[in-house]
Amino acid sequence: MSGTPAIIEHADLREHNTLAVAAKARYLVRITDVDDLTEALAWAEARKLDTLLLGGGSNLVFAGDFDGVVLHMQIRGRHWEKVSGDEAVLVLGAGENWHEAVLYAARSGYRGIENLALIPGTAGAAPVQNIGAYGVELGDTLLSVTVLDRNTQAVVTLAAGDCQFGYRDSLFKRQPGRYIILEVRVKLSRSRPLKLDYRDLGEYLGDTDRSSLTPLEVAEAVMAVRHRKLPDPAVLPNAGSFFKNPVITGAAFERLQERCPDVVFYPVEQGVKLAAAWLIDQAGWKGFRNARVGIHNRQALVLINHSGGSGAEVLALADEVRRSVLETFGVELEMEPGVVGAR
Ligand code: EPU
Repeated sequence: MSGTPAIIEHADLREHNTLAVAAKARYLVRITDVDDLTEALAWAEARKLDTLLLGGGSNLVFAGDFDGVVLHMQIRGRHWEKVSGDEAVLVLGAGENWHEAVLYAARSGYRGIENLALIPGTAGAAPVQNIGAYGVELGDTLLSVTVLDRNTQAVVTLAAGDCQFGYRDSLFKRQPGRYIILEVRVKLSRSRPLKLDYRDLGEYLGDTDRSSLTPLEVAEAVMAVRHRKLPDPAVLPNAGSFFKNPVITGAAFERLQERCPDVVFYPVEQGVKLAAAWLIDQAGWKGFRNARVGIHNRQALVLINHSGGSGAEVLALADEVRRSVLETFGVELEMEPGVVGAR
């Protein structure tokens, strides 16, 4: 590589994952633009090394060391494009902090992503799992993403319709490694209706006059609601929801509801979505703690690394939880974060 970008050998990854598990990367390269990226990819390819894209490290578990090149995506930049009438497109470099982008949009009076305040991670990672919270998903406002397609080596722009967005799902999850997100465009508006009907948010707002709320006030309400239940990774290392909310068939749901009349559910197109947090909570795991890892005492979907636990310990606890929910309710849980490194 031509001197820049710098390569760090045997890089410590503890600071690079919000679960704060110890792991090392054989190499780590800081990527600040597309040239850094193509150089780093060629460098890895020449040495037959695997690559791993890393944003904020908020949705992955290092099961062990990564014997390849970590591409630490730090492509910055944010600007407005196509401002016309009430609408505007916000363009974000992949390495921009997502929450700061949400506040920036909300402070500017633009609506569309305020419910996604305080989600950890980068703008470039947001489309991968189609981040969602409080009744809004990124796919609702995403206009397009600019990517490097590793199959063709071309930089191309994919419209939202090409991204195959689903619940915590996208093209980028279905074809892992093919696309590297460089830039994200979200289409915002000063006049689109605010989304305030998610239960926790509605309860928090109480009898506040909905008609005069600004997007910044909604972002602040979302932050307050999240602070009540979701631990700050800087204080209690975690990776947010550790499991997806499972979707089961209508018939399986009827059997479950007969046994458990209180089961928390939401009808969806493909069947019935269950609250994984409720299942884990009812199976008795909320607040559980072994020596170093545990389950959050205010939201059973969140695994916590209390004091220097390893990725293997986190995953072993996740396996126990999964097995217990399967035995208790006959429902399979699927992990939300990705697993990296030797398990
Ligand atoms: N519940 C329990 N026990 C708990 C927590 C929740 O029984 O310990 C019940 C609640 O009473 C509620 C239901 O489970 O009836 C759902 O709980 P909540 O509204 O907190 O949402 P969730 O389904 O657990 C999802 C997302 C979160 C997102 C919130 C708010 C998933 C996997 N998680 O959580 O996303 O912030 O909704 O929209 O879809 C993330 O992906 O990392 C994440 C935090």
